[in-house]
Amino acid sequence: MKNVLNLRPQLNHMIILNGSKSQSLGEKIAMDLGLKFENVSTRIFPDGETYIRIEADVKARDAVIVQTMFPNQNDSLIEFLLIAGTLKDMGVDKIIAVVPYLAYSRQDRRFQIGESLSIKTVTELMKSVGVEELVTIDTHYQHVEPGRFHLFNIPCTNLSAGRLLLDHIQEKINDGFMTIGPDLGSSEMVKYATGEERVLKKEKKCPICGKPAQECKCRITKKKYEITEVESELDFSGKNVVILDDIIASGGTMIKAVKKVKSEGANKVIATATHGLFMKDSLIRLKEITDYLVVTDTISTPVSNVSVAPLIVETLKNI
Ligand code: R5P
Repeated sequence: MKNVLNLRPQLNHMIILNGSKSQSLGEKIAMDLGLKFENVSTRIFPDGETYIRIEADVKARDAVIVQTMFPNQNDSLIEFLLIAGTLKDMGVDKIIAVVPYLAYSRQDRRFQIGESLSIKTVTELMKSVGVEELVTIDTHYQHVEPGRFHLFNIPCTNLSAGRLLLDHIQEKINDGFMTIGPDLGSSEMVKYATGEERVLKKEKKCPICGKPAQECKCRITKKKYEITEVESELDFSGKNVVILDDIIASGGTMIKAVKKVKSEGANKVIATATHGLFMKDSLIRLKEITDYLVVTDTISTPVSNVSVAPLIVETLKNI
């Protein structure tokens, strides 16, 4: 995978600025690079508006903003835009956005007429405040492979944390395991981390004609298809199984996969993902039904035991 950012070669020309959502990750990145980091002062006015202030001397520097976009995606995004816009006004040379969890990347197409292509608008906003490079991790955007691509008009590096998570699990359980994805959406990530595309498959059937979605000619929206598990040809009995995904949001996908693998006789079941959103009680439920649960620090959670800092540092170094 190419990690090459289009940056000027002097690392010491860089300054790391941490938004309020990624202070400890930003600090790790700066320390590993041997650079000074600056926390941006932020607060919320009583009426809900965001205030930011940058006290560092940033003129003619390459500014790296580290700001993940969860929780409170909208506030995190506005804070990010205010920071970038201010840096631009203060005369930085270049703005590089490190956004470990890129909010709105799940709305990456118009699933129905009239919907917003949210990630496009978010990217355009970033461009308008001077962002020239974006670094993110396992973005959900069209399940793009790890590597360089253009997210609309911003050059973007999409990193993958799968290998880091599996190495951590290997150390933790000190035993062999097989890795699978909980659904088709995770296949790129699983393939990139393991070289094999092992996922639990589901079938979408039309409730009117009973045919699989790809053969159905009835005019119904994709959300109305009945989704059923397809009998898996994988043999889990007596094996340690790691279920790897990009996101645990409501937890529904992961919980179902854990239950299925267990019911088919797996020994230890480990659930892991890059981004742990853990909505409602999904963190507690997953802890109860797994032997180990781990996510990265793209979002700070009680089980964020793997840091993505080394991935980001290598990317920023390889200039
Ligand atoms: C789907 O394609 C993704 O890879 C995740 O499996 C999904 O977004 C997880 O969402 P939830 O936790 O709400 O089931």
